[in-house]
Amino acid sequence: MYRYDAYDQTLVDERVNQFRDQMDRYLAGKLGEEEFRPVRLQNGLYIQRHAPMLRIAIPYGMLSSEQLRALAAITRRYDRGYGHFTTRQNLQLNWPALEDVPEILADLAKVQMHAIQTSGNCIRNTTSDQFAGIAKDEVVDPRPWCELIRQWSTLHPEFAYLPRKFKIAVTGATDDRAAIHVHDIGLRLWLDDAGELRVRVLAGGGMGRTPMIGEVVRDDLPWQHLLTYLEAIVRVYNQFGRRDNKFKARIKILVKALGIEEFTRRVEAEWAHLKDGSQTLNEAAVEAARVHFPEPARRPVDDAAIAEYEQLRQDNRAFARFVTNNVMDHKVPGYKAVTLSLKRREAAPGDITADQMDAVAELAERYGFGELRVTHEQNLVLSDVPVDEIETLWQQLDALGMANPTVGTLNDIICCPGGDFCSLANAVSIPIAQAIQERFEDLDYLYDLGPIDLNISGCMNACGHHHVGNIGILGVDKKGEEYYQISLGGNADDDVSLGKILGPSFYREDVPGVIDKVLQVYVEKRLDDERFLDTYRRVGHQAFKERVYA
Ligand code: HEM
Ligand code: SF4
Repeated sequence: MYRYDAYDQTLVDERVNQFRDQMDRYLAGKLGEEEFRPVRLQNGLYIQRHAPMLRIAIPYGMLSSEQLRALAAITRRYDRGYGHFTTRQNLQLNWPALEDVPEILADLAKVQMHAIQTSGNCIRNTTSDQFAGIAKDEVVDPRPWCELIRQWSTLHPEFAYLPRKFKIAVTGATDDRAAIHVHDIGLRLWLDDAGELRVRVLAGGGMGRTPMIGEVVRDDLPWQHLLTYLEAIVRVYNQFGRRDNKFKARIKILVKALGIEEFTRRVEAEWAHLKDGSQTLNEAAVEAARVHFPEPARRPVDDAAIAEYEQLRQDNRAFARFVTNNVMDHKVPGYKAVTLSLKRREAAPGDITADQMDAVAELAERYGFGELRVTHEQNLVLSDVPVDEIETLWQQLDALGMANPTVGTLNDIICCPGGDFCSLANAVSIPIAQAIQERFEDLDYLYDLGPIDLNISGCMNACGHHHVGNIGILGVDKKGEEYYQISLGGNADDDVSLGKILGPSFYREDVPGVIDKVLQVYVEKRLDDERFLDTYRRVGHQAFKERVYA
């Protein structure tokens, strides 16, 4: 995993000192509220419903055991002993005291972490595939490229005040697990017939008030030009993106207004000045990033061990359930990636306690070369577990409440903090997730339903990705009362689609019943092993609508 060099460390340390000074001046009344606001946002610090909220960057979702332990210590010392993983692979603290934040940032800097650019109108944390480097369907490892983008974008002098926040996602696999179609820029790394790395560049995707699917700007960009091309896109956005209206400020609105041809023409014209300039990548630059992601020293796992693991699956039903849902194939025979579920009814989706963090850090050392990944579905992944250790790991996870064998099912809900924490919310979202998890907890039923993404946001900002949920739930406000709008047919994968609203919204207590009716239609209409999404696409919206509003 990437380790800071002297430049990175100096930059982060200096930033901590600068912010400490700014905080001192704010607390002493020398900096006003309006002056302090942009400063705190540049350091990931929001003011929320009950308390400040600090968003900590986890570059492309990768965490070391040491970092997770430090996070555990921080949440114990400065917060309420837990943190919340988000759909952007960040960690949010919901209860820090304002005056403690410089100390928290100093503690983070000791383990090469920070909160820089986790908010504000700049290029945010780059997200990627949680199975990067190990997935069987991977064509190109995205991590070195994400790291190059991180270095390019962090405190980029020209892009500190973009019209709006800016998010990039990268995938190098056949199956997109990074939602590249609904990011401001989505990048797909692929190999041409000659084995040369190319980049498909999408722009103008995004969720929120006006959800849009990104369009292709360049299909076959040679890798040498990745950074100069990104720079050209962000320059065009910086120059022509709207600044007069916050709701029309995202790049998706610009792409839509200009049309993809004209947008591309402007990008290409800008690129003409940048192409082959100093930011052009060469083998040495890429290699310098690549060395930080070596293959771990995996011990060989022999065929007998693999056979024994398969036998165990046959003999133990509970273990088999866990393996089927939470264990993912690995490019190296004898190894698997294991998803640790952060979906328990007792806690908000994505929440993790300090004790769990410590325990997971230890598990990662024992079973995963001291490394973990955060998924955009708000779970954690151990990416390198030998099959002969999976059963022991499973038992340990079970004791920690992290072995819920429901990854990818209806119960693996993505959910934003909603009205319980977020001051922008129209309605609560965590209690909706819990009510649904409670209603649909029967494992046999969940497995019979197969893969379904259910995503919940407390307002139209769409932090919970409701637009791309097969079933999406959105909190809406009607004359001061909380209601929920349901949409169907959204999907974040390559065959991307935005959900379509079912009809008038519902009372909170009716939501699980409505979901039940939607599922009934699916179960009645599906053919053989057809997924929910495919049945929906085949039979159409009306069949669901009729049942729900009958
Ligand atoms: C409680 C603090 C939070 C605040 C104040 C906040 C604020 C916002 C705002 C204002 C937007 C809309 C931006 C726009 O449309 O231009 C947004 C979108 C978004 N937020 Fe949050 N958010 C919070 C928490 C979260 C959490 C917990 C997650 C993940 C679970 C998250 C992930 C996202 C994502 C994925 C989007 C939409 C994506 C996009 O269009 O790129 N945010 N947030
Ligand atoms: S979707 Fe709305 S309610 Fe939920 S976290 Fe985002 S801004 Fe807050």
